[in-house]
Amino acid sequence: DIKNIAVIVGSLRKDSINRKVAQALIDMAPAFLNLEIVEIGHLPLYNQDFDADSPAAYIEFREKIASMDGVLFATPEHNRSMPAAMKNAIDIGSRPYSKSIWNAKPGAVISASPSLQGGFGANHHLRQSLMCLNVYCMANPETYLSQADKLFDPAGEVTETGRALLKLFIDRYAEWVRNW
Ligand code: FNR
Repeated sequence: DIKNIAVIVGSLRKDSINRKVAQALIDMAPAFLNLEIVEIGHLPLYNQDFDADSPAAYIEFREKIASMDGVLFATPEHNRSMPAAMKNAIDIGSRPYSKSIWNAKPGAVISASPSLQGGFGANHHLRQSLMCLNVYCMANPETYLSQADKLFDPAGEVTETGRALLKLFIDRYAEWVRNW
């Protein structure tokens, strides 16, 4: 059975390390796990007034995530938390009330930062929101990619060290989804 997984990248910048992480995971995932980046940069800031009549971008995003079998988050850390764009996407998907598209999906969080802490703060703030939304987050392997800029060569290819970490993460996530 093919499992379709939405990959949400919390960075909007072109040369994002987290986007490289996401791409590497896409490339090395087992064949039955079909990962696809779902973009969030164009989503207007969440406004509860829009619950009654949502912008087309909200509706498309919600329908896309609803159609997927799981959700995988690759997050940078902004000021010890997840970037606003990531939180915005989570909030948009969570509403209207009782219509959350996140509910009961198998999830996973990976964080990457050039710092030594590897985005630990962002990773766990994100998990806090996912817990409330009933996303079943894989607990292990906890993957906080520190000095993550060094995990990619100048051509953007993942290094051997990076490959080992990412392969372990995606193989365990594949098991998590398969056993769902
Ligand atoms: C950062 N950065 C950062 N890094 C970190 O490890 N902890 C932090 O709290 C922050 N805070 C922070 C705030 C803001 C506003 C910016 C723009 C950046 C640095 C961050 O890790 C770095 O820019 C990464 O390269 C961002 O991830 P992407 O875009 O490469 O995926």
